Amino acid sequence: MSNIFKIAILPGDGIGPEVMKQAIKILERIQKYIKKKITINTYCIGGIAIKKYSDPLPRVTLEGCEKSDAILLGSVGGPEWDHLPLHKRPEKGSLLKLRKHFNLFVNLRPSFFYKNLSILSPLKEKILNKGFDIICIRELIGGIYYGPNGIKGKGINEHAFDTEIYSRFEIERIAHIAFNIALKRNKKICSIDKANVLQTSILWRKILIEISQKYKSVKLKHMYIDNAVMQLIKNPSQFDVILCPNLFGDIISDQCAVITGSIGNLPSASFNQNYFGLYEPAGGSAPDIAGKNIANPIAQILSLAMLIEYSLKERKISVKIKNAIHKILNLGYRTKDLSINNSKEKIITTDDMGTLIMESIK
Ligand code: IPM
Ligand code: MN
Repeated sequence: MSNIFKIAILPGDGIGPEVMKQAIKILERIQKYIKKKITINTYCIGGIAIKKYSDPLPRVTLEGCEKSDAILLGSVGGPEWDHLPLHKRPEKGSLLKLRKHFNLFVNLRPSFFYKNLSILSPLKEKILNKGFDIICIRELIGGIYYGPNGIKGKGINEHAFDTEIYSRFEIERIAHIAFNIALKRNKKICSIDKANVLQTSILWRKILIEISQKYKSVKLKHMYIDNAVMQLIKNPSQFDVILCPNLFGDIISDQCAVITGSIGNLPSASFNQNYFGLYEPAGGSAPDIAGKNIANPIAQILSLAMLIEYSLKERKISVKIKNAIHKILNLGYRTKDLSINNSKEKIITTDDMGTLIMESIK
């Protein structure tokens, strides 16, 4: 086994480059604790790659990722590219392609409650008092995101369509992942669907029930998506593992993020069957605040922590990083998005947040 661990760094658009810079500081700091020598190579992706290569996912980037052991991504997209046809836009033309290319069918989005940031959560105190620790598992390369689509016809007959298709093998493989993760947690899965309307959901539910027979100690529950979004704000503490098809997972993972207080804190990890992974913040490119040195780098740093845990298998080091983040938040340091204008808090820049977290890693 090689003693070198190669990370492909894809900063991307919007706040991507500035928050990525902070993650790299952390990476340099932790090298001394890690057995393998980490090397990084940076590649263009998204809108910036359209500018440079007329392609949101240039061949050099894809080949660079193929040669790597893991990918750390910033974010892609922005209003500058919104006029382009869907398949040329950074979102579909790079991120969705990358997920499909590496067969990254598992997407993990953990969302836990930071006591210190509870005031930022839109939820009432009496709901937050019970706390929550949820992991949203989203099927990432199937369903309506990847089914046949198009726009056809003219005049009043002009019409558009997107198609949701799920095959048995796609549902089975994500179900096994969810049950195995549930076994290591509180042994509870809530599977989200719309089985009162959609055929794909009926199949999804049927296969989940079948697979659950192999995991007798895990309690499987089903919830319609409309009820789930409601339950999540009424009583988030009832959830442990939430398992979703692609589109429902996109929606519900943002909801899981916002109830923690800030979408700037939430990381995500995507894997294939070999646990090759792409790690990225769940929050997006935030073009309105890009380049101002005010963005919150925590989601990017936590995405790196996930990479260290799942791809490098250095769980202790990832805990060190999480502890450093908690320490800095406990001391009252906040980026602007985490501010509540209270006299005890110290509003700092993206750069300073990165440096403070880096210096607190012990
Ligand atoms: C996400 C994002 C993406 C998605 C977009 C940028 C294509 O919203 O990762 O949640 O919908 O999957
Ligand atoms: Mn999303």
